[in-house]
Amino acid sequence: MPITPQDLAEHFARRFGEQPRWIVRSPGRVNLIGEHTDYNDGFVLPLAIDRAIWIALRPRDDRRVVVHSIDFEQSGEFSLENLSAGKAGWIEYVKGTAWSLEEAGFQTVGWEGVLVGDVPVGAGLSSSAALEMATARAFAAAGKLQWDPTGMAKLGQRAENEWIGVNCGIMDQLVSAAGRADHALLIDCRTLHTEPVRLPDGVAVVVLDTSTRRGLVDSAYNERRAQCESAAEFFQVPALRDVELEMFEQLSSGLDETTHRRALHVITENDRTLQAAEAMRRGEVCALGVLMNKSHASLCDDYEVSSDALNAMVESALAHDACYGARMTGAGFGGCAVALIDAEAAESFVRSTAAAYQEKTGHSPALYVCQATNGAEIVEGE
Ligand code: GLA
Repeated sequence: MPITPQDLAEHFARRFGEQPRWIVRSPGRVNLIGEHTDYNDGFVLPLAIDRAIWIALRPRDDRRVVVHSIDFEQSGEFSLENLSAGKAGWIEYVKGTAWSLEEAGFQTVGWEGVLVGDVPVGAGLSSSAALEMATARAFAAAGKLQWDPTGMAKLGQRAENEWIGVNCGIMDQLVSAAGRADHALLIDCRTLHTEPVRLPDGVAVVVLDTSTRRGLVDSAYNERRAQCESAAEFFQVPALRDVELEMFEQLSSGLDETTHRRALHVITENDRTLQAAEAMRRGEVCALGVLMNKSHASLCDDYEVSSDALNAMVESALAHDACYGARMTGAGFGGCAVALIDAEAAESFVRSTAAAYQEKTGHSPALYVCQATNGAEIVEGE
């Protein structure tokens, strides 16, 4: 993090003349496996990471929210009395979350604070979900609202869908709210049941940022969603989650070629995700790595959401002996890949993968070994 919670508290004290009442933290995430399955009511296996957003705050006795972002060197404020959308920007995530809480019938109170984060924006590590969940945590602290991670994640998703206008699934908000240190979270995106699955000993998870960012992700994402919905309609089921591979093989010949491949990815990915959770429980890291590699191939060939940079990164990672598996992570088209490696070789892995990737593409990547952390929490204050 660019500054520590102590620095954040000092920053708060300089601005407001006293110590903050609370400091809350909400993490970004990386998804180990289960990509483009959440909006198909399927399974995902992400972890909350040690890159997060922090807010130091104190309550106000009016119904205003006043926030200063250290990263953007900018302040934003609004009244809870008449919420209306403004120009796109970080404050809209705060406002949208307030709106979503209000819509759900929560009694929100005003607060003021400072905000800082080290989740890179636009890299596919869910900085927006982290901001939504940090905001929800701040409102919950200030207004003494019950903290139910799943309920809050749904409100965050609603803010993203309806206030921000991004049609995402539930994965990012739910893992940011409910992550567990040292564990990945197996999420059933239909029931929203979450099960922490311990990361096997001796492995490290590495985030591999290609440093490429793609536009048009939203339209491609929405197009994939629509293709999945039409495939589910074809099979006459509520979502692709309900199609087993056997059923798919028997009935899918009537699907057009593209929709066929999209559905095949989702159905096989759901299966791989459940298998991956099982491999993790048994400590079978090689099997887990193989599943990640298959996931990447399926995202690349059938779902077509990878990119040259992501493929070059995955290839570079797999060239190192310590790598069990690697794949693109998040929505795709740019951003990050994720690798599972032998923890002892982390340093050499990072060095040689970065060099190989740079050599292949000319881009300077950013690689970080990450820790699985808890979801949104109060780190100081009660
Ligand atoms: C984005 C969305 C998630 C999920 C992934 C793809 O991160 O926000 O809901 O759909 O893409 O797995």
